[in-house]
Amino acid sequence: MTIDMTDELADLALGAARLAADLIRGRKADGVSVAATKTSDVDIVTEADRAAEALIRDTIRARRPDDAFLGEEGDDEEGTTGVRWVIDPIDGTVNFLYGLPNYAVSIAAEVDGEAVAGVVLNVVTRTEYVARSQDGHLVALRDGRQIGVRDQAPLSHRLIATGFSYDREVRVLQAEAASRLLPHIRDLRRLGSCALDLCLVADGSLDGYVEEGVNLWDHAAGGLIARTAGATTRLGTGVGGMTLLVCGPAHGFEELHAAVVDAGFAAPGTITERGE
Ligand code: IPD
Ligand code: CA
Ligand code: CA
Repeated sequence: MTIDMTDELADLALGAARLAADLIRGRKADGVSVAATKTSDVDIVTEADRAAEALIRDTIRARRPDDAFLGEEGDDEEGTTGVRWVIDPIDGTVNFLYGLPNYAVSIAAEVDGEAVAGVVLNVVTRTEYVARSQDGHLVALRDGRQIGVRDQAPLSHRLIATGFSYDREVRVLQAEAASRLLPHIRDLRRLGSCALDLCLVADGSLDGYVEEGVNLWDHAAGGLIARTAGATTRLGTGVGGMTLLVCGPAHGFEELHAAVVDAGFAAPGTITERGE
């Protein structure tokens, strides 16, 4: 893969994300209602989610018709080029529904299974987080300026974001783990968008993030942006049996991860390092 190709993928992702964000803002102005529920009664999708994903796919397909797609609101599509697009058209749909200004379009481009470019665009603030190549290496940018993770802090002074699953039983386990972690850190935040949480670790606004129940479309772009900015991401199995993601600055990451495991976020005996 050439640097030119990575640039092309990043530019395409950013263009598609901007179009999708315009569409979502338009739908918001027209009024939002729930179109359907998915994995549980509180896991919702709106017409804007579906329309935004269709627009993103059409925009990318017009330039690269043979790529593969994995998206939250559409069918998996196989391709022939080795490039796969991983799309969450609105990450933070509950915030979108309630008018809370923290939801984003998330698009990652993978080549042969590895994320090489990513865009997370906050639809309301229009802040653009991008991981792309520059002068031959990957850089993480916020509105065009390079970003990096926060300086190291003792665990007791770290502000950590988390999230709760749409599965009500898993939430109980997550809340118990969160209550055991809280005495050891500065505080917890539940902001409602995994992709943006990862970007806030990337730009130094948070010291870490832990959540069980995330899907690849939630974290493909934000995870790449965070790693490029100096964070480590690690996937495992959570106490509820779903995917557990931990992210924090590479310095001090092991201490955070150990605290997360000690608090009971991970399934007992399943602390595997699945890379990433
Ligand atoms: C959700 C958000 C939320 C996280 C959930 C995700 P959605 O994505 O990222 O912060 O807690 O795990 O599913 O449903 O708004 O696209
Ligand atoms: Ca999501
Ligand atoms: Ca979504």
